[in-house]
Amino acid sequence: MTMDYYQLSMAAEFVRQQWPTARPRAGLLLGSGWDAAANFFTKRASLPYSAIPGLGASTVAGHSGQLHWCEASGVETFLFQGRRHFYEGAGWTPVGVPVFLLRHFGTQLLFLTNAAGGIRDDLRAGDLMVLTDHLNLMGSNPLIGPHEPCAGPRFPDLSQVYVPSLGKRLERIFQALEIPFRSGVYAALTGPTYETPAEVRMLRTLGADAVGMSTVPEALLAHAAGLKVAALSCIANTAAGLQAQPLTHADVIKTAQATLPRLRGVLENLWKELPDELISTQPVA
Ligand code: HPA
Repeated sequence: MTMDYYQLSMAAEFVRQQWPTARPRAGLLLGSGWDAAANFFTKRASLPYSAIPGLGASTVAGHSGQLHWCEASGVETFLFQGRRHFYEGAGWTPVGVPVFLLRHFGTQLLFLTNAAGGIRDDLRAGDLMVLTDHLNLMGSNPLIGPHEPCAGPRFPDLSQVYVPSLGKRLERIFQALEIPFRSGVYAALTGPTYETPAEVRMLRTLGADAVGMSTVPEALLAHAAGLKVAALSCIANTAAGLQAQPLTHADVIKTAQATLPRLRGVLENLWKELPDELISTQPVA
């Protein structure tokens, strides 16, 4: 199921018609359990995902499925409260909509978040991990299909998907707030099953520090299309085989929710000091 660029342009047209004066300078996508982080922003208007062509309502508990046109520290932001995943079975188009909406509006910065299982020994439930790189183990790629120039080059370079200066800025904020943090490599599998213990051992051998079912598609799409990407994982559990209890989505959400006060500090401070060169807007497409 290749991405439907016509639907993507319909999504952009629709949002532009609804909010003709919107000029978002940053995008934020909230992962499982971090829905309530939308409250840290001042909202101007909201649209349900179900109203946006190509996006559609989220089918996953803990993902509200609302696009908010909002603001924090004077930075106009499109906040995606909840994400569409490849495992939901609707193909890549809903996964790509947030990226292409931002691109259409000339936004340069996309901050992605997710809940993940911790693989590296020092990762514990409730830790926050800044992504330095990723492993795409989804067995697919949202850019498979006829080449569309709006998506970037035919063969996008991925040697540095996550902007190091943003990672460093995040690290400085964590340090200033005295919030412990980790950095690491995130591996994306399609899900919706969690991994087997053998798969987790394989992922560790492959160099993964954490594992999840998202983020990589949006990150590579955004990077290929010329956006700057930063990403943060909430380590919601230690991965399968590394903890005694079976994994449940309800526990993932509960652990992520418990980290919200720390996320708030990080987002508020980051939004206060986003560098101008990352949040200047390009002309609307
Ligand atoms: N594996 C995959 N996805 C996840 C996990 C996990 O352990 N925890 C939260 N999302």
